[in-house]
Amino acid sequence: GSALSAQSPTRAVAWKTGSTLAIEEVQVEPPKAQEVRIKVISTGICGTDDHALKGLLSANFPLIPGHEGAGIVESIGKGVSSMKPGDKVLILIIPQCRECSACLHPEGNFCEKQDVLPSSGLMLDGTSRFTCKGKKIYHSFRASTFTEYTVVPEIAVAKIDAAAPMDKVSIISCEVPTGYGAAVNSAKVTRGSTCVVFGLGGIGSAIVMGCKASGASRIIGIDINEEKFPRNLKKPVQEVVMEMTGAGADFAFEAIGLTDTMIAAWDSCHRSYGVCLIVGLAPSSSKLSLKASEIVSGRTLKGVCLGDYKTRDCTPQLVIDYLQNKINIDPLITHQLPFDQLHKAFELYHAGKTKRFTYIP
Ligand code: APR
Repeated sequence: GSALSAQSPTRAVAWKTGSTLAIEEVQVEPPKAQEVRIKVISTGICGTDDHALKGLLSANFPLIPGHEGAGIVESIGKGVSSMKPGDKVLILIIPQCRECSACLHPEGNFCEKQDVLPSSGLMLDGTSRFTCKGKKIYHSFRASTFTEYTVVPEIAVAKIDAAAPMDKVSIISCEVPTGYGAAVNSAKVTRGSTCVVFGLGGIGSAIVMGCKASGASRIIGIDINEEKFPRNLKKPVQEVVMEMTGAGADFAFEAIGLTDTMIAAWDSCHRSYGVCLIVGLAPSSSKLSLKASEIVSGRTLKGVCLGDYKTRDCTPQLVIDYLQNKINIDPLITHQLPFDQLHKAFELYHAGKTKRFTYIP
C-alpha cells in the first residue's frame, strides 16, 4: 500500500515541549516487516502523555502523543503472523517480544524492546513512519495513538475478542492493567487488608477498583484535588495515615509520579510487613531519597509497570473478563469526545475532571 493521506486531518502533533497540540495532515507510511498499521478507534489521555508533553521524560519532538488505544488492523508488514487486516487490537506501551530476558522470565514483563525508558521515539529499525510538512515526526513510546492511523511493532499489539466495544476497551491497553493489575496481580492485595492510594486519577481509581476486588477492608485515597479528597491536612500525610491505621498500611500505592509522594507512600506502610508499590512514572532526572536505616525493618519497595502483566498474553483476557462482567471498567471512563475536541479533553484533564476519555475519529 501507499502512504495514507488524511481525508480529514485528524492527527495531533506536538511540535515542541509544552506547546498546544496542533491538528495536522500527516503522512503515515505503510508498515515495514514485523509492523502493523492500525486505524485507531479510541484512545485515552494518561498521566504519562502529560509528563511527556511537559518534557519530563526526555522524549524527542516533534511527536504524535498518546499510547493508550484500541483500533482495527488496516495493513500488515512482511512476516506478521499474529493478526490480519480487520482484527480488533490493543496498542501496548510495553511490548512482549517473547525472546528477551524479561519476557522469558516467569515474573518479568518490562520487555527489552520497550521505548519508554529511554524513549527514542523511533521504530525498532531506528526510523519513523510519520512525516508532516516534510519533517520527520517522532513516535510516542512506539505507540502514538492521537492519530487516525498509526504504525506499531507487531510485538506491541494484542489481538482481542471480536465482540469488544471499541469505544471503551482502549483503557484496557494501559490504565486497567496498570492500576487494577498493580493491586490484584503485582501487590496481590490480601483479604481484610488496609490499602493507601496516592493519586486518584485514572490509574489511582483503577488501583482502588483492584483493592476492592481483592477484598481489602479499608482503602484510603489521597489527592490534592479537593473535589476528590475534601480535607485540608495540617501535617504530613504519612503521619495522618499512621494515626488512621495504628501502625501503617499493608499496601501503599503511588500513582502520581512525584518523589515526595513516593516517600510518603513508603512512610505510610507498616514498617515490618508493608508493601509500597511505585506505579507513577517520575521525571527522568529525579532521584528518590529514603532513610537507609529504615529499610532493614522489612518493608518492601516494588516498582510495577502494566501490573506486571505480560502484555500480549494478559490484556486480551482482561477484555474477555470485561465482556463476561467479571470486571467493570465503565466507571473509569468519565467522558467520550470526538477527536476534534482533543483540546477540550486536555482542558478537562488539567482541570482534574476526567479520568479517561475515548474518541472515535
Ligand atoms: N499529592 C496528591 N495527589 C496529587 C499530587 C500531590 N502532590 N499531585 C497530583 N495529584 C493527583 C492529581 O490531582 C490527580 O488526581 O494525582 C492524580 C494524577 O492523576 P492523572 O493526572 O489522571 O494521572 P494518571 O493517568 O492516573 O497517571 C498517574 O501513573 O502511569 C503513571 O505516568 C503516570 O505518573 C503517572 C501516574
